[in-house]
Amino acid sequence: IPPAAKKIKWCFFFSLFLLQVLSSSFAEQTPCLNGFDSEVFTFKVDRPYLHRGRKLGRVLFNDCAGRGYNIYSSTDQHFQVDIDGTVELKTQLTLHKVQEFSVHAWDSEGMRYTASVRVENVDKTNHHYAQLEETKNRSINVPLLKLSRTKRSWVIPPLNVPENQRGPFPKEIAVLMAHAVAADGEVTEKPMEIIITVIDANDNKPVFTQNPFLGSVPEASPQEFEFMIVNATDADEPETDNADVRYTIISQDPPQPNPNMFIINSITGGIRVNSDGLDRENYPEYTLLIQAADMMGNGLVTTGTAVITVTDSNDHAPQFEKTTYTASVPENKVGAVVVKLPVTDGDEPQSPAWMAKFKISGVNNGGFFSISTGPNKQEGIITAVKVLQYCITTGKIQCGSEGV
Ligand SMILES: *[C@@H]1O[C@H](CO)[C@@H](O)[C@H](O)[C@H]1NC(C)=O
Ligand SMILES: *[C@@H]1O[C@H](CO)[C@@H](O)[C@H](O)[C@H]1NC(C)=O
Repeated sequence: IPPAAKKIKWCFFFSLFLLQVLSSSFAEQTPCLNGFDSEVFTFKVDRPYLHRGRKLGRVLFNDCAGRGYNIYSSTDQHFQVDIDGTVELKTQLTLHKVQEFSVHAWDSEGMRYTASVRVENVDKTNHHYAQLEETKNRSINVPLLKLSRTKRSWVIPPLNVPENQRGPFPKEIAVLMAHAVAADGEVTEKPMEIIITVIDANDNKPVFTQNPFLGSVPEASPQEFEFMIVNATDADEPETDNADVRYTIISQDPPQPNPNMFIINSITGGIRVNSDGLDRENYPEYTLLIQAADMMGNGLVTTGTAVITVTDSNDHAPQFEKTTYTASVPENKVGAVVVKLPVTDGDEPQSPAWMAKFKISGVNNGGFFSISTGPNKQEGIITAVKVLQYCITTGKIQCGSEGV
């Protein structure tokens, strides 16, 4: 459950004589039946000689009226049952094997219920273990409250209750009884607070914050270059394994030029380049199937995708279609187009890496020609910019034929 709902606080007044704490906040509407939890309660002891006051275990009686305590009576005079259901020895007793008797309880409407109690002297070889188990089982069902009194108020340690409990409800968390007598008959108690901490269970799986995640990476990026992060949240208690998410890449489409072009940081979700060979011209896009799992990768799982666009990185030079062009131009015509020089470029069309720009790099004596870039950006256009004259004789007139 989200941490905000974690603490339930109850305030209540401490009665002078009797106080009961019931799990009323867990009251989900399931039918409630009065009666003992079991027809037979078996308590094991590990030795035949039982002294007076020894506690054997508890009988559990469910009273839907929610009084939390009951009046019991035992048919065997050796045993007595306290109002919380604890069965204890009223007198000393030597138990050879088994002793059975009945316990009666009355609900708030006066109806009587009966259960059997079996007290067994267990085999000596494992008696310590059985005793331990019995103690453990009881402490899980009903925690023993250790109370201390500071000056005038009672202090109750927080009670832990796992979330997602099954019914039947109301379910007993603890029963608390106190008996206070004032010497002068004028005791007033302050309200007492009981904190019930609901213990988180791993009941939320991770959720990706986006799906798909979109990223881009320049082609020919070096290995280890991190270019995007994926992220999943988990609504369970932060800082516990229940919310500790790890990421993995399940598959890559296309699996070319090799199936492990990318690698993910399992903790941060950062995706980085794992291999050379990113090539936009051949594989312009990759789709990764990614997984997030809580319990440090071993718990609940969710999957999503990351779509990666490979961007161009000007890894192609423009190419002239021919290495030599021959052209003729009429004389005396400034502005005449001499020749067009088409080129091709393997980079992404219309991107800056693809658009060509032309200049004359060799001999252009006299500046008779200029070159410009055609509107399609894939062609150079040479034009005449000064008067050219065809010269039959050399002499007074300088001819511009040189270099054409
Ligand atoms: C304690 O509980 C476990 C599991 O519920 C059960 O197997 C075992 O028999 C119980 N022990 C005693 C002594 O009741
Ligand atoms: C993941 O998303 C959550 C919720 O949007 C945010 O608080 C957290 O900072 C994000 N983590 C990363 C590494 O971006």
